[in-house]
Amino acid sequence: MAQRFAKSMPSGPLEAGGESVPRHIAIIMDGNGRWAAKRMLPRIMGHRQGAEAVRRTVKAAADLGIGYLTLYAFSSENWKRPADEVDDLMGLLRLYLRNEISELHHSGVRVRFIGERLRLSSDVRELIDHAETLTTNNARLTLVIALNYGSHAEIISACKRIAEKAVANEIDPASIDHAMISKYLLTADVPDPDMIIRTSGEKRLSNFLLWQAAYAELVFLDCLWPDFDKAVLESAIAEYSSRERRFGGRQA
Ligand code: FPP
Repeated sequence: MAQRFAKSMPSGPLEAGGESVPRHIAIIMDGNGRWAAKRMLPRIMGHRQGAEAVRRTVKAAADLGIGYLTLYAFSSENWKRPADEVDDLMGLLRLYLRNEISELHHSGVRVRFIGERLRLSSDVRELIDHAETLTTNNARLTLVIALNYGSHAEIISACKRIAEKAVANEIDPASIDHAMISKYLLTADVPDPDMIIRTSGEKRLSNFLLWQAAYAELVFLDCLWPDFDKAVLESAIAEYSSRERRFGGRQA
């Protein structure tokens, strides 16, 4: 049973709403397999510890006053993994949603999913629907879980819907702009990430939030995902705070 989230606001150097705290942190959770291999354990053990790191990180994000946390749990490319590993990952997600949802709800976490749902099994889809419906009015932290998510598919789908509207004369092609495209993405009601963290030393985005990442600070950590905790999150936030964000402009 996860420890109940502290209801208190953050203390210490990272203050909620302060300029140094990113509003939206997105994480590419990488390195579960290497964590297990280093210990001569089966990969599932790395994923299990990865799920523990998810629990810790959601709690830490809420404690630190982060508004949005997006976790890349399963990419549209992850289906290429052996079937038993895919089953293990889906099993861990089921366990997380069954065991944690009431705790998340009582802690004020709103849970949202992005990704293509049709390929997911019906019981996983039901758990997702339940989690979203139950937590829809919560406002402390929005936890976005990217599941069977791929940025290219998301952008293609947005383009198709906009094109259909243009063909039906409901949209003037000249009016298509950044705001309109953003509105047709799965993240329409989520602000763009301020920081994207990738663990395990890999330095790529792997089809994750490509449109939304335009001005995100990218932070690559050597830490393997199962070792991720509040202290590592705070060190990433400190790195973020040390960067100068110019959004294409320049300092006066
Ligand atoms: C990358 O490690 C991690 C994943 C593909 C899946 C992430 C899943 C979890 C953290 C567990 C379940 C999630 C939730 C939301 C409860 P990898 O296997 O690619 O590691 P490697 O590159 O070292 O082999």
